[in-house]
Amino acid sequence: MKTMSFVLHGDLCDSRDPQHLRTIRDGFLVCEEGVCAGAFPVLPEQYAHLPLLNCAGRLIIPGLTDLHVHAPQYTYRALGMDLELLEWLKVNTFPEEARYADPDYARRAYGLFVEDLKRSATTRAVIFATVHRESTELLMDLLDRSGLAAFVGKVNMDRDCPDGLREDTASSIAETKWWLAETVGKYDRVFPILTPRFIPTCTDGLLAALGELAAETGVPVQSHLSENQGEVELVRSLCPDAAFYGDAYDRFGLFGSHGSCVMAHCVHSTQAELERMKERGVFVAHCPQSNVNIASGAAPARRYLDEGLNMGLGTDVAGGFSLSILRAMADAVQCSKLRWRLQDQALKPLTAAEAFWLGTAGGGAFFGKVGRFLPGYDFDAVVLDDRRLAAARPFTLEERLERAIYLSDERDIEKKFVMGTELF
Ligand code: GUN
Ligand code: FE
Repeated sequence: MKTMSFVLHGDLCDSRDPQHLRTIRDGFLVCEEGVCAGAFPVLPEQYAHLPLLNCAGRLIIPGLTDLHVHAPQYTYRALGMDLELLEWLKVNTFPEEARYADPDYARRAYGLFVEDLKRSATTRAVIFATVHRESTELLMDLLDRSGLAAFVGKVNMDRDCPDGLREDTASSIAETKWWLAETVGKYDRVFPILTPRFIPTCTDGLLAALGELAAETGVPVQSHLSENQGEVELVRSLCPDAAFYGDAYDRFGLFGSHGSCVMAHCVHSTQAELERMKERGVFVAHCPQSNVNIASGAAPARRYLDEGLNMGLGTDVAGGFSLSILRAMADAVQCSKLRWRLQDQALKPLTAAEAFWLGTAGGGAFFGKVGRFLPGYDFDAVVLDDRRLAAARPFTLEERLERAIYLSDERDIEKKFVMGTELF
């Protein structure tokens, strides 16, 4: 894969701010050595010498970020969604994840996952693997070869899960250190992220050791937070001294105090939890489809957005059945409407523009300058051919984007770039 300097010509659409789109019909998007030099209605003279990739009539949007997805669960997506979280984990998740002790199974299953992720509009993902070091490294190798950018976590858990998945505390940490030694600095675009699964499967001893690792290495952290009512109650009984669920991570330095941190779901977070997340810059991975499928609830995404929390979208496969962040945008809008209508009239529904912000700039920020067509941002772009969606009358560029969010699929993705390299 070669990173080049070039100009993409087409109908450009990114976010100006969380509420507003910026559209440039027949615009020019400039890539200089993998970095965006800007989006222009007229090509500036200084870039006239660069090769021009003509995508006239196509929609060109920033690459999408999936802030929370479980690669090993891709196999059983769309199955077994009649249970709530804690039962769902026991019945569906743990038996499937136990298979990843076998590297041959992992190679096949992760191969299919990475192939589909590559074909999607997602350019970046923050991924849970399983407790197995070898399979996790295999997944990282596959992602590296795909050209996608990702954080990948070897999961840690040392209690309340089946034999075969449950690690003892010392070996969980030893394996994690080994894994970090092998993967930190190994790839250009794939990085390890510390991954205590969630409080119910992690002892204080494990959390304390992971917190020390986070402090020593600056490696980021991902986990689950306040997803399901039963889970929140369980955490309260397991950690009577914690002020709230997130505090059970924070007291071990696993809540953004040593580096970036992303917490999935936050459906039932209290105001105190939110304040702490704001203080620490913790990212919310909003996973609307999963929250419906396993009946966790409708997260108050509007409140998080208005209060200025860091937030992006996650598919949470296999809580979510779809790997599409465009679909997650539509789901985010729909869930916000149900929350507004049924639960909380103070929180207005999200607009399509706001959901688009979350799937591009909002989640992209976890990776740095990602998710917008501004100078200095990584050049991640998706070229969508929306002619399949044509109707009896023309649409504005804003309308075409909104229709693409709801109606397009992988068939319509013509090209994809990550840091200036063309994946296809
Ligand atoms: N909480 C702990 N593990 C999981 C998981 O695999 N999926 C979801 N949705 N929530 C979790
Ligand atoms: Fe999850």
